[in-house]
Amino acid sequence: MTPLSDPTPFHGKTLLLSGAGGGIAREVARQFHAAGAHLVLGDLDPAALEEFAASLPTGGGRVLIRHLDAASAQSNTAFVAAAVEEFGSVDFLVPAAGIYPEQAVADMTDEQWRTVVSVNLDGVFFLTRAVLPHLNQHGAIVNLASMAGHRGSVRHAHYAATKGALLAFSRSLAWELGGHARVNTVSPGIIETPMTRDYVAARGEDALSATPMGRLGRPEEVASVITFLCSPAASFIHGETIQVNGGMHMI
Ligand SMILES: NC(=O)c1ccc[n+]([C@@H]2O[C@H](COP(=O)([O-])OP(=O)(O)OC[C@H]3O[C@@H](n4cnc5c(N)ncnc54)[C@H](O)[C@@H]3O)[C@@H](O)[C@H]2O)c1
Repeated sequence: MTPLSDPTPFHGKTLLLSGAGGGIAREVARQFHAAGAHLVLGDLDPAALEEFAASLPTGGGRVLIRHLDAASAQSNTAFVAAAVEEFGSVDFLVPAAGIYPEQAVADMTDEQWRTVVSVNLDGVFFLTRAVLPHLNQHGAIVNLASMAGHRGSVRHAHYAATKGALLAFSRSLAWELGGHARVNTVSPGIIETPMTRDYVAARGEDALSATPMGRLGRPEEVASVITFLCSPAASFIHGETIQVNGGMHMI
């Protein structure tokens, strides 16, 4: 096993990351790259990913960038095929694509419901199914659920429903993969990223007063937990959910 002091525990290993242009995913990419991993980054806007990749220090793992529409089975399959062609197999999967639109259930259209489910839930299933035949022994998957999946979220029932479903999906997958690869979930609270910009502008003060730590989370504080869960330091953690919310929701 790699000792905790190894500065590049992911050297030669490959991380597949969806929604890679997002606030949390960029920090995941930075931390894995610093730890020696090759990166396969997918998002709707590959040009933004190219710009991001150019900001990474040179001399680390290689970076492959692809357009990815998480809601499309075909797009996920092509994304994984490109990764396998370049790197041969996958060690870590972090599906981080997600959307968080606001809409009360009473006025929610079929399309609004379906769009959120397609990206946040179908997308994780499509990507996971495509990766599994190529996932190395001792690999790791970390799914991004949410505090919303545990306690609900006003005017975001579709979002909360997908995140609650991801908790059950991850635990089921943990049973299926057994000793082959570990599967865990991180449930962030309110983290400062583009996703929460509108929410924070409208209700940020309420969030702060409901959080014992009295501040919002930073993307790197979620990424570091994901990095830990993929590392040898978490070698016996499987089927677990870790809350990263400054104490806003304690279970
Ligand atoms: N920020 C938070 O407070 C918070 C809290 C709990 C959970 N999460 C979860 O963490 C994950 C990352 O969130 P974030 O805050 O970094 O969000 P973000 O909005 O910064 O990033 C989301 C990324 O997903 C991409 N994306 C959206 N639809 C896509 C699609 N169809 N195909 C491919 N990519 C698509 C976006 O382009 C964006 O780059 C999400 O799953 C989110 O639900 C975030």
